[in-house]
Amino acid sequence: MAKSLASTSLETQAVHAGREVLHEQGIHALPIDLSSTYPVRDLEEGGRSLEALAMGGLPIGSPVYSRLYNPTVARYEQALALLEGTEEAVAFASGMAAVTACLMAARQRGNHIVAVRPVYGGTDHLLASGMLGLEVTWAEADGIAAAIRPDTAMIIVETPANPTLALLDLDDVVRQAGPVPVMVDNTFATPILQNPVKHGVTLVLHSATKFLGGHGDVLAGLVATNHDWATELRKVRVITGNVLHPLAAYLLHRGLPTLPLRVRAQQEGAQVLAGRLAKHPAVSSVYFPGLEGQDPKGLLGRQMKGPGSLMAFELKGGFEAASTVMAEVKLMTPAVSLGSVDTLIQHPAALTHRVVNAEAREHSGVSQSLLRLSVGLESPDDLWADLEQALAKAMARTAAHV
Ligand SMILES: Cc1ncc(COP(=O)(O)O)c(C=O)c1O
Repeated sequence: MAKSLASTSLETQAVHAGREVLHEQGIHALPIDLSSTYPVRDLEEGGRSLEALAMGGLPIGSPVYSRLYNPTVARYEQALALLEGTEEAVAFASGMAAVTACLMAARQRGNHIVAVRPVYGGTDHLLASGMLGLEVTWAEADGIAAAIRPDTAMIIVETPANPTLALLDLDDVVRQAGPVPVMVDNTFATPILQNPVKHGVTLVLHSATKFLGGHGDVLAGLVATNHDWATELRKVRVITGNVLHPLAAYLLHRGLPTLPLRVRAQQEGAQVLAGRLAKHPAVSSVYFPGLEGQDPKGLLGRQMKGPGSLMAFELKGGFEAASTVMAEVKLMTPAVSLGSVDTLIQHPAALTHRVVNAEAREHSGVSQSLLRLSVGLESPDDLWADLEQALAKAMARTAAHV
């Protein structure tokens, strides 16, 4: 972590993090190193470097080969570590690649994972698949401690959770976990709104595809953590080849300076839309931490700096009404993914969480009438006009069937 920037504000860090070394070299804009390999003239030194990198360390002289180390990726990792307040960060090819690497690294400690639903459908799918040889206990938020066994290697939670926006009290999760490391998926909150390590969390995961990328053109994953875990994760990355392409790292780093602005502006728009949705006759419930009564544990302020820009809402007309909204929106894009500068709306039960056990899905609140909305940077009035016309069509269609 860069020491000189550590005491500056998030806004300053977002602009300058990971760029200090460039300034020393007289370079202003971010360069991209697309090398797949690097010259090794001194075999002794090159061999030592390869050995260090294969064990999850850093290069000694030549990086040898880009699967082992890439300076463009490393600069972005440094920047994210600074923003999350961790010693280090490790980047991967996607959010799911990052989850996989965490689970593979955790296996050295035991074969049992405790997780709290809901989590992103892909994470649920991976955990439930048994593909990595791990046994999973799905616990309720207050049942984490009771689910822990001697071979429990990791606790996995998401807050706010995808797609219901359910919030977890991280102080309580960490207290229940005791010595077991906790991994938090911080994708929805971003480091701008929530820093899980301040609450004792060991691993902070991001699908950087979302807010960190912010423009819908990059797939990436990131884990911010301490030096020991980062070393293990880099080792997994070298062995599995689960690397982030430098061009993707460049795009992520290029978009980082505007992250605080984007997150806050999108959040403002979301607050407006959530308030209007809550009063709409077609809508039975809105799930958004910024609405009155939706933060009973008082986590806004204590754990999160704001509610973010995602919300979920249920339609009185059930699946038919929800699918009509998906078909009728014009300005918003009916698509999975989130955190982009443009607004996306999707139906979790049919799409992102389709792969989740149906009973467990319903139990965690992912119903057939639920839509998830990721608010972008468009004018909230324009977004509302679009949503209103789609909701009117949904109401007309479901009324015709009564
Ligand atoms: C909360 C969360 N975690 C992880 C992932 C997986 O990330 P990726 O799609 O980059 O593999 C997603 C994807 O939607 C997500 O929403």
